[in-house]
Amino acid sequence: KVGLNTAAKAAGKLYFGTAVDNRYLNTGNYTAINSNTADFGQITPANSMKWESTEPQQNKFTYTGGDIIADMAKKNGQLLRCHTLVWHSQLPNWVKTGSHNNATLIAIMKNHITNVMKHYKGKCYAWDVVNEAFDDKPGNNYRSESIFYKTIGEAYIPIAFAAAAAADPDVKLYYNDYNIEDMNKKFERTKTVVEQIKAYPGARIDGVGMQTHLQESKPLSEAAITAVMNKFASMDLDVAITELDVRLQTKGANAQARQQRNSIYGNVVRACKNVKRCVGITIWDFTDKYSWVPETFKGEGEALPWDANLKKKDDLYDAILKAWGPA
Ligand code: G3I
Repeated sequence: KVGLNTAAKAAGKLYFGTAVDNRYLNTGNYTAINSNTADFGQITPANSMKWESTEPQQNKFTYTGGDIIADMAKKNGQLLRCHTLVWHSQLPNWVKTGSHNNATLIAIMKNHITNVMKHYKGKCYAWDVVNEAFDDKPGNNYRSESIFYKTIGEAYIPIAFAAAAAADPDVKLYYNDYNIEDMNKKFERTKTVVEQIKAYPGARIDGVGMQTHLQESKPLSEAAITAVMNKFASMDLDVAITELDVRLQTKGANAQARQQRNSIYGNVVRACKNVKRCVGITIWDFTDKYSWVPETFKGEGEALPWDANLKKKDDLYDAILKAWGPA
């Protein structure tokens, strides 16, 4: 049966996938939809592998939620993208507000990476090792609110990738960020950080995750996205679209806005199709009911291919299929 994943594979990609949130697994037909491998050949835990979940207290590792997602992927025969090891957000308080120095926080970070990666060894296709290092202010500097940057400085990133490379030589290691789908300053920052990782003894990076949280009101062309992917590919990296959604300003949304959203999805899919090193696309959950968008941007939404009643939106679904095809 033709679906989003089978169409992606027919276009030479490894997968089309979705984020899955443990909170909703037992509600309605959520799990039935995300387990349908015609549409989803890959899943990413939306929250349950983040630091606050995996190491809520120092050196007390809890893998319950992440294991549920990993087991589900295995049972369904889906690839698993593991998300995420080092991020300034969703950190437990003992990390965020603890009193650390350079040496103690490096040790804490290495211990976290090593334990979590060893636990999931053989289960993940890829790890988002470091997530969202740069801010959105002019200059896109390193996030000043990150405890890792504040304490260790920019070396925290290559150090994290060296620890990850040592913990698991087989899994793909990614740097993951948003607003890098265009050749802007943050994209330049990302290229620089990749070079720093590559130059650091013992470190390895295999790919860049382009989150791709887009807005209908700010269209992005197939050519722009393709150019970014080609640039990363020329640095001998894989690329993946890791958290795709395209939101509407729901108030006043009309057929034209939805059409625009659908065509932006098409641009992303065709860009990935254009570039051999683009391995696949993941949407950031599949239903508007559980999307992060309305929680974060009041009044905005309709960003995903299934609506708030978990009903497939034929127009958007078909736009994605069409962009992958003809098979
Ligand atoms: O854990 C608490 C729980 O104890 C409490 O009862 C409940 C009540 O609201 O909240 C729970 O926390 C939630 C948390 O996810 C963990 O499940 C927060 O409310 C919720 O806002 C939080 O949102 C997540 C967000 O990351 C946090 O930054 C979203 O579900 C998740 O989709 C989102 O994902 C991020 C990616 O990891 C990185 N890129 C951006 C993307 C979207 O923000």
